[in-house]
Amino acid sequence: MRDSHIGPIRSLVFALAASVAVMLAGCAGAPTPFAPASPNAGAIANLAKIIFGIAGVVFVVVETLLIYSAWRFSRKRDGEPTQIEGNSKFEVAWTLAPAIVLAVVFVVSLQTLTQIAYLPTAASAQTATTVHVRAIGHQWFWEFDYPDLKFTTANEMHVPLGAIVSIDTEAVDVIHSFWVPQLAGKTDAIPGHINHMWFQPTQIGTYHGQCAEFCGIEHANMRFQVVVESAEQFQTWVKGQQAPVATMTGDAVKGEQIFLQGACVGCHTVNGTKAIGKVGPNLTHLASRKNFAGAILENTPQNLALWLQDPQKMKPGTLMPRLNLSQADINALVAYLTSLK
Ligand code: CUA
Repeated sequence: MRDSHIGPIRSLVFALAASVAVMLAGCAGAPTPFAPASPNAGAIANLAKIIFGIAGVVFVVVETLLIYSAWRFSRKRDGEPTQIEGNSKFEVAWTLAPAIVLAVVFVVSLQTLTQIAYLPTAASAQTATTVHVRAIGHQWFWEFDYPDLKFTTANEMHVPLGAIVSIDTEAVDVIHSFWVPQLAGKTDAIPGHINHMWFQPTQIGTYHGQCAEFCGIEHANMRFQVVVESAEQFQTWVKGQQAPVATMTGDAVKGEQIFLQGACVGCHTVNGTKAIGKVGPNLTHLASRKNFAGAILENTPQNLALWLQDPQKMKPGTLMPRLNLSQADINALVAYLTSLK
């Protein structure tokens, strides 16, 4: 009887261990909310630790009592144990104890919520610059518009170290969610409605972001990056983004013609040209970005060529159709796109 149970139990343990291993492997290199680089992300990480600690204590107490009772009051050995139904002391205790635990969780959660909900007060804000960004969710990429600085980009958002980054999240199609685990909590991006959030980066670096609301087939590939850099580097980047579109030379001239005469202009914008489409990302300074296609592909000539050949193969479901371009056209278009510095 006993032996027949070892098989299934052992399989269960193996299955559990395997799932944990797969989960941990999947997390390798992924952004963690437990390495915060902004005060509000820090507040969220602290809250998570407090609640995990409380849950851990509850787990240990409950499981210890459970295992002890099963052993101590064994029916096989002692028969049916004394029944305690109607014992008011026990009933008050196990009603009060969870109520107190939940009250503590409620209070610390409420404190964290108020701490992260509002922009830092005027006093601390005066010491820092504020950068406004509109983060607009599209199926399946993030558009970043800097209304005060008057330019629009995609997939890669730059912010200066120490600045208060004030973000309005919006969406054009379905509900998305803006999430950079190391910088702030999740904020839904809802069509026809603006949500506000903020963070204040305290460490230079590139932070990974991920859409956190299921928004269709390419939801998992709706990524982006937040580049936190020095004020000087940020100013250089801003100047680059504000600059007029580059003048084309060589193969890029032909590529520009194909782009402006083809279907591309229906979906993409290149500032100062007849390309004013709003479906796909603004490409004016595409070559300045490290990634494209929802930040899942490295921005290299090879990847751009593969993308132009068959976007559906590179990112199944993307709204960019297959264009049946000749190899010569693809080469010219890649020369054009890589010149959009
Ligand atoms: Cu956008 Cu998920």
